[in-house]
Amino acid sequence: KHCFSRGADGYLYCEGVRVEDAMAAAARSPFYLYSKPQVLRNFAAYGEALQGLRSVVGYAVKANNNLPVLRLLRELGCGAVLVSGNELRLALQAGFDPTRCIFNGNGKTLDDLKLAAGSGVFVNVDSEFDLENIVRAAKATGKKVPVLLRINPDVDPQVHPYVATGNKTSKFGIRNEKLQWFLDSIKSYSNDIKLVGVHCHLGSTITKVDIFRDAAVLMVNYVDEIRAQGFELEYLNIGGGLGIDYHHTDAILPTPVDLINTVRELVLSRDLTLIIEPGRSLIANTCCFVNRVTGVKSNGTKNFIVVDGSMAELIRPSLYGAYQHIELVSPPSPGAEVATFDIVGPVCESADFLGKDRELPTPDEGAGLVVHDAGAYCMSMASTYNLKLRPPEYWVEEDGSIVKIRHEEKLDDYMKFFDGLPA
Ligand code: LLP
Repeated sequence: KHCFSRGADGYLYCEGVRVEDAMAAAARSPFYLYSKPQVLRNFAAYGEALQGLRSVVGYAVKANNNLPVLRLLRELGCGAVLVSGNELRLALQAGFDPTRCIFNGNGKTLDDLKLAAGSGVFVNVDSEFDLENIVRAAKATGKKVPVLLRINPDVDPQVHPYVATGNKTSKFGIRNEKLQWFLDSIKSYSNDIKLVGVHCHLGSTITKVDIFRDAAVLMVNYVDEIRAQGFELEYLNIGGGLGIDYHHTDAILPTPVDLINTVRELVLSRDLTLIIEPGRSLIANTCCFVNRVTGVKSNGTKNFIVVDGSMAELIRPSLYGAYQHIELVSPPSPGAEVATFDIVGPVCESADFLGKDRELPTPDEGAGLVVHDAGAYCMSMASTYNLKLRPPEYWVEEDGSIVKIRHEEKLDDYMKFFDGLPA
């Protein structure tokens, strides 16, 4: 069951609510509209997939850092994967159990590492200097830090180069040749840190689960090698990266069950606790980015639908050439001609598009238009370019109520950056 679907009356619904009614309730656009029940369903899919394994679901907060969303995921039992001091602060604020959190990243600062060490989260070791800083943070806080070694397995995830991370030219993790050096160093720091597991993350939008299996085979070999040197490894973290059906075709894409089942036997054979770090597959399809049509124009052969949302709020099409499905919210007016349009925003550059070459009925001015699968890496990557301030967020609850879960940014918020400064 999917939360956004077209009713028999021709209107787009979010659960039982017409998106058009949510637009009236919000009384502005653009905005983000979520289905709370879809978050529950997505998490339940991972819960079912992980039956029979010791596991931690570490939600990748970078995908979506809305606080009510985080609290909901935490209540469901999620841990969190964090990549900055502020994400870590937010996760602690949202009440995540630090022992189910992992602080990850290739450029963690000493200050952020002190915060991590003090709070008791797991920390990924990414490089030689990172290891030195983790040890410094441990000494400064007097806490022994549980660490995972992030290994770059050199597996091609077959995705856009900007979201590939586990191939050998990537900036993340350590390579095989240096493993022994890291193990020796970690041993020499055994008063300050404890190696508890290994981590890899291959990339994002992965649509073939064989890739996870290939990586897991390599990773359990590392586990064997590391355990043979006397380390008590408990965790295998295979990262996140499961793709979703952005195209809304009938293509059968792997589910969390497919993902977990390709690594299940390997994990059981080594008696490991599996950590997975889903972002997109937990949150992307729970949300639509809702726009209003400002107008329709045509430049010779090219037709444009101009909407009030833009690359400022949703940059994935511009940045990765990503496809996100676009639909009109209401049935077309009688006689509306179907044509091929680029859907563009008001931002002053040609990279500002939400979709290209989409066949749609010509919309009326003011019509609602949604960009699907906007729950991951859209609001969290939003900017204020052209002073397009960040939009509000709403979710639809089980009983059909529409609840605001984030305020819109206001010009007053912006003006505060200049308070008290010389004129
Ligand atoms: N774990 C690590 C270490 C990661 O680097 C990431 C994502 C994840 C987990 C979560 O991956 P997911 O399950 O969401 O694919 N902005 C890009 C995606 C960047 C992903 C970065 N790392 C996009 O909009 O497609």
